[in-house]
Amino acid sequence: MLLQITDLSVEFTTMQDRIEALHHVSLSIDEGEIVGIVGESGSGKSVTALSILGLLEKNAVIKSGRILYRGTDILRLDKKELQALRGKEIGMVFQEPMTALHPTMRVGDQLAEVIARHRQLSRKEAYAQAVKSLEEVHIREPEIVARKYPFELSGGMRQRVVISLAMAAPPQLLICDEPTTALDVTIQHEILKLMKELSVKRGTAIMLITHDLGVVAELCDRVAVMYAGEIVETGRTAEVLQNPGHPYTRALIGALPDLADPAEPLHAIGGELPDLRSRPEGCIFAARCASVIPPCREVRPQLQPVRPDQGHEHQVSCWVR
Ligand SMILES: Nc1ncnc2c1ncn2[C@@H]1O[C@H](COP(=O)(O)OP(=O)(O)O)[C@@H](O)[C@H]1O
Ligand SMILES: [Mg+2]
Repeated sequence: MLLQITDLSVEFTTMQDRIEALHHVSLSIDEGEIVGIVGESGSGKSVTALSILGLLEKNAVIKSGRILYRGTDILRLDKKELQALRGKEIGMVFQEPMTALHPTMRVGDQLAEVIARHRQLSRKEAYAQAVKSLEEVHIREPEIVARKYPFELSGGMRQRVVISLAMAAPPQLLICDEPTTALDVTIQHEILKLMKELSVKRGTAIMLITHDLGVVAELCDRVAVMYAGEIVETGRTAEVLQNPGHPYTRALIGALPDLADPAEPLHAIGGELPDLRSRPEGCIFAARCASVIPPCREVRPQLQPVRPDQGHEHQVSCWVR
């Protein structure tokens, strides 16, 4: 086990309120595995990523839980140890590539600097390695691109540079938060393909955060479906897509043009996320669910194996079976 999140609850305090953004989240990632976290905006995906990276804002408090990285509890590390972990073991890629890039430094120099930090190389060797790593993320004419500034590159090219920066150490785990959301669909596919390729080649595990189940279908071995700060379903991607156990997962599938039954019209999911200031007593999805039965509004369902006789990997929290 590379990463194991157990029972993680995170609360934010704002001027007026306390918001429980994550509620008893458990999730694990094996070495080399690609795990997707999917859910609509506000479901707690980024808070999960930032918790792992130790980058939560100051108004956040971890109310419960553990995050073990190779057996070490990340939540107990001090700032320096966390920084070391982030630089070396856990890489990150966010939606907006510019946030990860130095705006007034040529990309080759930026890459060379990071590479030199991780390996005992001369400046010249590190720069040569930087050009090579641009080639590895399929940037054509890497020598020329290395001499450019970030603003001279397209969004897709910038994200390739960020991926190559994030992979420089190289990390055991790459956390990608909506890495292709800002990009055109065709570029999106290319970047996803590249991530898969790098993961296989280097054995890097990836946590891929996205609001798009199509992205998960394309790339992920396993998936966790999040709703309002809770994981409502998890399992092998193919299994979850073919045999979704949660009405929310079914709604996400129904909203996908490629995966939905062509005979069925596309459905947007009606209603809004619940108020995170006071979680409902029953199922977190009950207010928006079309299949509600009596226990749903009173008793909270727990994650349970969908078909216990066929293993415990596919789990769902839903009263309707
Ligand atoms: N800095 C913050 N202060 C207060 N609330 C926050 C903060 N960051 C996140 N939240 C709360 O956590 C919820 C989940 O946020 P987030 O993880 O960013 O969602 P997403 O799934 O879109 O990435 C938000 O809806 C918001 O209520
Ligand atoms: Mg987010």
